[in-house]
Amino acid sequence: MSAPAARALDAGDPLRGFRARFAQPTRPDGEPKVYLCGHSLGLMPLAARALITQELDDWARLAVDGHEHAHRPWIPYHDNLTAGLAALTGAAAGEVVAMNSLTVNLHLMLASFYRAKGARRRILIEAGAFSSDRHAVTSHLAWAGVDPAEALIELAPAAGADTVPESAIEAHLEQHGAQIALVLWPAVQYRTGQAFDLARIARAAHRHGCVAGFDLAHSIGNLPMSLHAADADFAVWCSYKYLNAGPGAIGGCFVHQRHTESLQRTAHTGAIPGARLAGWWGHEERSRFLMEPQFNAAPGVAAWQLSNPSVLSAAPLIASLGIFQEAGIERLRAKSIALTGFLAEQLQRLAPHAQVITPGLPAQRGCQLSVRIAGGPARGRDVLAGLAERGIVVDWRAPDIIRVAPVPLYNGYEDAWQFARTLGELLQR
Ligand SMILES: Cc1ncc(COP(=O)(O)O)c(C=O)c1O
Repeated sequence: MSAPAARALDAGDPLRGFRARFAQPTRPDGEPKVYLCGHSLGLMPLAARALITQELDDWARLAVDGHEHAHRPWIPYHDNLTAGLAALTGAAAGEVVAMNSLTVNLHLMLASFYRAKGARRRILIEAGAFSSDRHAVTSHLAWAGVDPAEALIELAPAAGADTVPESAIEAHLEQHGAQIALVLWPAVQYRTGQAFDLARIARAAHRHGCVAGFDLAHSIGNLPMSLHAADADFAVWCSYKYLNAGPGAIGGCFVHQRHTESLQRTAHTGAIPGARLAGWWGHEERSRFLMEPQFNAAPGVAAWQLSNPSVLSAAPLIASLGIFQEAGIERLRAKSIALTGFLAEQLQRLAPHAQVITPGLPAQRGCQLSVRIAGGPARGRDVLAGLAERGIVVDWRAPDIIRVAPVPLYNGYEDAWQFARTLGELLQR
């Protein structure tokens, strides 16, 4: 493969025009970097600036009246995001809401969905889970008066393997399901890039009486999802990775409608089996400002909102979701499968110095590949520094993994080719 051949592939890409809709970070000489780090922080949609400016202008011009009279009124601001989030997660509109940030939402979901009852008090997560998820779960167990050392189960890959097949989760539940109250699993694992069959995990969890919750940090905007059809109980996500909504942007939450449909609107029984922690923004909009002591829940997952949302952290997400709607998540996925497949092929030649640990089957991964660098952490760090010096942005996960994500909205074959070629050069030093 040569640069012109990779460029020819880009020329044939029907989605290539979307790259120009994003700000490209630059090297000191002004040339664009090769940005392959959308799994950590997505690029800025150019349209975000105008949307934020609009809110600042409305704030300056209208002050408090902006709540009702801004170009996009602030009181129902989260409604601007619902359709786009529902499309990306495969949910009904009443099942998704933009609010808070991922870890906060995870705590709110654990408050509603985790209850220790008799022998059923354990939570199943993956070994090597993202630290914040593990902290949320262990602290939640402790808060509920349950010893995390006894109640947290971390399912590890088999000896010598990097990934966990769904069959291992099923087998674990088969044996220990009666002690497990809740399964929390990533839709795409942050370190390995492995994508999971959520319907299969939810089915296994439900078969054994467990709640099935999912962390979508690395899957939303990366893969199409069908949370409703998968029968997930809840899911949480952030919007600064593949959703390109900017650092610390507003997160989101899914609660399956079977948990909300039959609820009494005035009770704090939010879901099975727990309670819903409430605030005024979860109160039905119609009567929220009457400030009455009685809570009347908004329909669906909107009832889990606590506070009025940060408009400035939500505005860029409107820009990004608009781009997703134009491009279409299915078309993006088709390009992503081809592009990540192309990158995997280029990287194969670098074995055994570099080894992709992400599964090879497209159904078992999104756009990210995780590349193990042989020779120990110092060598890996050296390689990473070499990539950075050459304007190639990827990232590092200890002890020996480079994560690289060709994002179909703004990356192309030449980016993937340049990364693989440069990595090859660096590994030969
Ligand atoms: C898998 C996963 N879970 C949780 C988080 C924490 O997100 P937040 O800081 O938005 O709570 C991240 C952040 O990168 C993540 O990748």
